[in-house]
Amino acid sequence: MREYLPLLILGAIIGVFAMLFVMLWCVVRRRKDVRSTDRNMADGEIMRRLAGYARPYWKQFVLVLIIMVASIAYSLVSPVLVGRIEELIKNDFPLERLWAMVSVYAALLAVSMVCTYFQTIILQKVGQKILSALRQDLFTHIESLSHDQLNNIPVGKLVTRVTNDTNAISLMFTNILANMVRNVFILFGVLGAMLLVNYALTLMVLCFLPVLVLFTVIFRKLTRRAYRRVKDCTTDINTYLSENLSGIKITQVFNREQAKMQDFLRKSYDLQKARQQQMYVFGVFRPMVYMLYISSVMCLFYVGSRGYIHDAGFLGQTITSGTVVTFYLYISKFFDPIQMLAEQFNMLQSAFASAEKIFSVFDMAPELVDEPDAIELDRIEGDIEFKDVWFAYEPGQWVLKGVSFHVLPRQTVALAGATGSGKSTILSLICRNYDIQKGQILIDGIDIRHIKIASLRKHFGQMLQDVFLFSGTIRSNIVLREDSFTDEEIWQACRYVNADRFIQKLDGGLDETVRERGNNFSAGQRQLLSFARTVLHRPEVMILDEATSNIDTETEVLIQQSLERMKNIGTMLIVAHRLSTIQHADNIILLSHGEILEQGTHQELLHRRGQYYKLYMLQFDAEERRQGLSSPQAERPA
Ligand SMILES: Nc1ncnc2c1ncn2[C@@H]1O[C@H](COP(=O)(O)OP(=O)(O)O)[C@@H](O)[C@H]1O
Ligand SMILES: [Mg+2]
Repeated sequence: MREYLPLLILGAIIGVFAMLFVMLWCVVRRRKDVRSTDRNMADGEIMRRLAGYARPYWKQFVLVLIIMVASIAYSLVSPVLVGRIEELIKNDFPLERLWAMVSVYAALLAVSMVCTYFQTIILQKVGQKILSALRQDLFTHIESLSHDQLNNIPVGKLVTRVTNDTNAISLMFTNILANMVRNVFILFGVLGAMLLVNYALTLMVLCFLPVLVLFTVIFRKLTRRAYRRVKDCTTDINTYLSENLSGIKITQVFNREQAKMQDFLRKSYDLQKARQQQMYVFGVFRPMVYMLYISSVMCLFYVGSRGYIHDAGFLGQTITSGTVVTFYLYISKFFDPIQMLAEQFNMLQSAFASAEKIFSVFDMAPELVDEPDAIELDRIEGDIEFKDVWFAYEPGQWVLKGVSFHVLPRQTVALAGATGSGKSTILSLICRNYDIQKGQILIDGIDIRHIKIASLRKHFGQMLQDVFLFSGTIRSNIVLREDSFTDEEIWQACRYVNADRFIQKLDGGLDETVRERGNNFSAGQRQLLSFARTVLHRPEVMILDEATSNIDTETEVLIQQSLERMKNIGTMLIVAHRLSTIQHADNIILLSHGEILEQGTHQELLHRRGQYYKLYMLQFDAEERRQGLSSPQAERPA
């Protein structure tokens, strides 16, 4: 009995540690229970959906499995070989046999390395393909979301989904899953091999297993929390960055750098903390497992040395120096996979969390979908009718209250009214960016809900106040869609809207670089480009929303000319604050708080002496005061 005393003492120390750990675990768990868990998709469902992405590559996965089995052979056989070599060296040092052994060892190592190489290559390829498929699906899906849905998700969050989260999933396929399978193979392989070599020593090693399992369970709990925090902090910082980098100029103008910096530092610090916490968890777990490993090696040496010295065995089995060496190697190969499995299991959890986040974006069904029998419109006349349209962004808060009007093909209709009266909303509804709650919107007499959305929007050209230019070239921004246009057609469009003059002055002409959001062009130039973009595609309905505001007088003259010409292309809907811009419209609709106050031509409305008349006089007087003389465009009505 005294012989096993050291073993017992060791066991007791480990037991105490294990107990401390369990207590720690309980504390953590209680705290966690207070917070709500954010996972609400079952692991099974996540796996099923992920498997959908892996399925096309099942052949590659099977191949990897076969290669893996071959590469594992090294891990299983090498300890036995090294044990044999040890005995050869210790005994009579027969060079030929030693050479043979070492050659076999080297060959095995080489095979294992080659296998690992191919395994990595195949998995990486498959992983990248899955990643790109997932990314594309996600992006396509995000594109299909309605304006309302997009308004509700911060851009930074979407960026994190498309980049970090898809990456985590790709990592799962290329790295985590393969290594987990590999480690399971190694674990059971090593166990079998150990049993074959010496079952008694194997039993001794297994005595450490319960403690190891306990450590692992606790570790899993701790890391899952740490991982989640890191992930939340990352999303947070991405969201903050994407918003604030877009608005950084405003920050500078208003001298808010310090305050923004403080916000950012706080978020950055949170992320740092979260990552540190993650490291602490690993920092505790790894030494714990190492301690177990060292303990078992010590036991091995103790038992082994006794067996060797007394030439007796352990529980009846003979132990030679070769056995001790073999087991020494096996023990490390036995503990490593368990430790790695625990860590990989956590990474798997983290990948699942990412997958869930991605799938929850997928699960946001597009609000605006084509009806099953929606029709395709090849051409439209440009007849637009609103029939008692009621619309609210937020339930109950009506933005449009029973709006009705009729625009005939090729007419130019202007919407006027105070800011917030619902002009942009009307324009947005025509393109079906939102669905209305009551009433009907008809294009050529067809309810727009019966028309395929893509086919509907194809016929509209929108020119808004803040033009969005993508980074690229002038050409790519004018052509926009994939349609192939010749240079001549592009120039023609540019001439039509007076954009040709400034483009000709550029060094690169049509190929001049456009920086992000077109910030290397003036507002007026951007506006002209957006006109060219619209005219080139010859839409049947053109929509201008305050496109003529904040533009210098010279450019405004150009824009006025191009507007006059553009009227010939098709139906035109204009929102402009300067009434001089819209006075030639066929119909002017004056809105107030989502209702139509009056409508008619400029002359009709002036004669009515209603709200429009007041608005006009106000602007007229202001203009007169500004210029000190009568505006040439506006004639004071009698
Ligand atoms: N995406 C939105 N979500 C909620 N309310 C909105 C949204 N867009 C506009 N609104 C509200 O709808 C009203 C009409 O806005 P809008 O049509 O843009 O006015 P206008 O173009 O005439 O200045 C405003 O009161 C505005 O606050
Ligand atoms: Mg508006």
